[in-house]
Amino acid sequence: VADVCFANGILEVHHYSSIDSTNEKAKEKQGIVVIADRQTAGRGRRGRRWYSEEGGLYFSISLPPHLNMEDLPKLTLTTGVAVCEALSFANAKLKWPNDVLVGGKKVCGVLCEVVGEAESPAVVVGIGINVTNPIPDELKDIATNLLEFGVGRKEIFEKVVGNFFRLYRKLPSDWEEIRQRWKELSDTLGRIVEIRVAERLYRGIAVDIDESGALILDSNGKVERIFSGECFYLQR
Ligand code: BTN
Repeated sequence: VADVCFANGILEVHHYSSIDSTNEKAKEKQGIVVIADRQTAGRGRRGRRWYSEEGGLYFSISLPPHLNMEDLPKLTLTTGVAVCEALSFANAKLKWPNDVLVGGKKVCGVLCEVVGEAESPAVVVGIGINVTNPIPDELKDIATNLLEFGVGRKEIFEKVVGNFFRLYRKLPSDWEEIRQRWKELSDTLGRIVEIRVAERLYRGIAVDIDESGALILDSNGKVERIFSGECFYLQR
């Protein structure tokens, strides 16, 4: 991993046994990877908490400015592809915008955060993967881990980071290849979904990811383009 990181301008990998949130730490310096054995204040999307018991993989990649704000949806989808390909042994699939599912349940979440307000901002990409950490009872219907596959955190970490930088180097110009890959690995396209974006609700069939990274929804014949939001499946 050190070599992959180094080749991509990431000079340091910081390891903590316990930290509040690797995303918070990674915001302090550009060009580092922060990994922790557990987090005391792991954060999910939409201000939710991310359970971060020992046994899971929690890390954040802090990227110097490279992409414009409008390219960030592509970065999110690209990160999903990197994780999904690393978990191919478990036949992982992608749920828009950036959850990775195994057996229809969430095994990984991605939290991309912009640092500062520049048009081309530094970005922290946070990745949480349930490896052998226990899933709390109340989440067992929707979340799972990789315990049954007997694969270690180190191996998964190395694969994800390697995949991530292989794909990240292609952004933004060679995004088309990544977009096609996302579609191949998608669990969402073809489904009837409900998407919540702030106060708005969209309902329809998820039909495509377009060239700008937006989800295309066919809502009774009306085409909606959605860049980010929370996605619920209305049928199994
Ligand atoms: C989500 O699906 O809601 C996103 C979860 C992201 C969790 C990871 S764990 C490493 C990094 N540090 C955090 O506090 N969150 C992300």
